[in-house]
Amino acid sequence: MSNKSAENQLNTFKYETKNCPETATNSSGAPIGIKTAILTVGKYGPSLLEDANFIDEMAHFDRERIPERVAHAKGAGAFGYFEVTHDITQYTSAKVFETIGKITPIAIRFSTVVGERGSADTVRDPRGFAMKFYTEEGVWDLVGNNTPIFFVRDPTLFVSFIHSQKRNPVTNLRDYNMFWDFISLRPETTHQVMFLFSDRGIPDGYRFMHGYGSHTFKFQNLNGEAFYCKFHMRTAQGIRNLDVQKAAELSAIDPDYSTRDLYNAIARGEFPTWNMFVQVMTLDQAASYKFNPFDVTKTWSQREFPLIPVGKFTLYRNPRNYFAEVEQIAFAPSHLIPGILPSPDKMLQGRLFSYQDSHRHRIGANYQQLPVNCPYRTSPRNYQRDGPMCLNDNQSGAPNYYPNSFNGPEPSQRAKDLQPPYKVVDDDVYRYDSGDEDNFSQPSVFWNFVLDDPARERLIKNIANHLGNAAEFIQERAIGNFAKVDSDFGNNLKIMLNTIKGNQCN
Ligand code: HEM
Repeated sequence: MSNKSAENQLNTFKYETKNCPETATNSSGAPIGIKTAILTVGKYGPSLLEDANFIDEMAHFDRERIPERVAHAKGAGAFGYFEVTHDITQYTSAKVFETIGKITPIAIRFSTVVGERGSADTVRDPRGFAMKFYTEEGVWDLVGNNTPIFFVRDPTLFVSFIHSQKRNPVTNLRDYNMFWDFISLRPETTHQVMFLFSDRGIPDGYRFMHGYGSHTFKFQNLNGEAFYCKFHMRTAQGIRNLDVQKAAELSAIDPDYSTRDLYNAIARGEFPTWNMFVQVMTLDQAASYKFNPFDVTKTWSQREFPLIPVGKFTLYRNPRNYFAEVEQIAFAPSHLIPGILPSPDKMLQGRLFSYQDSHRHRIGANYQQLPVNCPYRTSPRNYQRDGPMCLNDNQSGAPNYYPNSFNGPEPSQRAKDLQPPYKVVDDDVYRYDSGDEDNFSQPSVFWNFVLDDPARERLIKNIANHLGNAAEFIQERAIGNFAKVDSDFGNNLKIMLNTIKGNQCN
């Protein structure tokens, strides 16, 4: 049987098990004699506490759900490999980029951001683009989006930003006032809001979009040199977006559209591929750059910092089981490997804490022992022990304290060389509000040079249809911000809003 599509999954299982079912057991592995009835006194009950198999089944069912991700709850995943195609060892000595032709197994999870686990795929929302590289020096996660930028540049605003798009705590409804109030009060959101309401705000599934590490990271080589870098993953399938009407129809008739598309493409043998590039900035260039190069609301000009090809990756395997391999996969920007370090980007620094904290809550303290998370190409050797659901041999007889005289694991000279001391500026400790750090230059470039006339018109229409649901004073504040990008933008948005209102009155 060759049709391994999502729709045919059960037949595939039947075929692969050669029409020969295994014996049903309880969770301790003991065979079950009757699977269709509980134990009762007489034909009509009552039931018995003695029915351990029934209790085993119900008690497990009662615990089937783990908390969904607080953001990016709806997603789809797949597995594949990354291959180095170009030499970047002058920048980083990370093993994953060591030699041309080197292959590293990867996992990817794509997602929407705001909706719950059962929400529709084809909504206007950024798409998560989270990658896990299983390297021989541990797991490296690049937890990015399909946008090169983000809405805010200080991590303390992230919680409010997400809350403003989640459900109103009283009505349990998505609330336009909450969203546009926050957005218009923090104009650094303008750049990504424009991206979000442009054509790229609704990708046609997950295969037809680029991915970005978004933040600035730091490369380190063994010559003691460091470089700042940004990661770009460019789809080899080409960019494809959905128009608003079609996306709304799909939300109603096939809310799992993107999940299905990815699964079935891989099942058909149409393995999606992306090419990876990096932009590189020296530390001296960063020190004198015209804006903060660690500001995630801005891109680095590709003219000044051209895309350097690095490698490509291909997805060729669907999850064997969604819960085991996608719901339980746990990405963290702090899962880094020697040769790849964080930059001072404040948002990235905030994320370094948040994700592992979330995993410990969502999955448990030993989440990295699960097969999909485990750094299986090396053996984790540390001084952590025990905890709920320890799945392996708990590091057997190795000493559980350091230092010790009994051959417990020792630090690596290579890892030390790849994290040398670095200087930070000598400055005052303070809570610096970054709200007015040039919020409009790049949005203005986006408006004037990236979009053409029809795309500008669609952007205005998309914003107006959404913003028109917010209170008038919020609309006015938002228009004021868009007018700072370009006066035409502000004026035409105002006209469009009035037209929509006029139509509603008629
Ligand atoms: C998921 C926090 C910014 C991309 C999550 C999760 C948390 C979180 C707690 C759920 C993790 C889990 O339980 O598995 C934050 C914080 C941020 C931030 C505190 C800023 C301070 C960003 C940015 C990006 C991003 C800037 C992209 C550039 C993602 C993605 C996921 C995610 C792709 C889903 C990962 C997956 O597929 O499992 N975020 N986030 N986040 N975040 Fe963020």
